[in-house]
Amino acid sequence: MEKRISKILSSYPGDRSDLIPILQDIQSNFGYLPEEILKEVSSFTRVPESEIYGVASFYSQFSFTPKGKNHIMVCTGTACHVKGADQIKEGIERHLGIEEGGVTPDLEYSIESVGCLGCCALAPCATVNDEIKSNITLKDIKKIFRRRKREKPS
Ligand code: FES
Repeated sequence: MEKRISKILSSYPGDRSDLIPILQDIQSNFGYLPEEILKEVSSFTRVPESEIYGVASFYSQFSFTPKGKNHIMVCTGTACHVKGADQIKEGIERHLGIEEGGVTPDLEYSIESVGCLGCCALAPCATVNDEIKSNITLKDIKKIFRRRKREKPS
């Protein structure tokens, strides 16, 4: 972990204005913002830790718990629940081999459930990196992952 963070920090002069790009690099490298690394960022940029937490909490792109490059949010609100959201969530968990709140070992995918995505008429819904998938079925899940695998650069 130290090598990766040193490499990230060495590509910046250490100005306050570098804070968000540094956090973006950490998020994309580690899948989240680990607490011990934020301490290093604080001494590197001379931005107090409390301020870093304030900035990082403001933007939804940052997470304090591990998140995959493709973050899936499955809606389990009432409308989606009635239309089989639980089976959809279980299908995704089975497909990825992780449970809700987990992240795949390669940091490609993570999954969580949310109360309502605001598109109840199109239930059941989920998002993959903020892109809404509506009226999803178990078949769609396979298609989504197959397509993402093809799009992934080797
Ligand atoms: S309950 Fe799922 S989008 Fe509202």
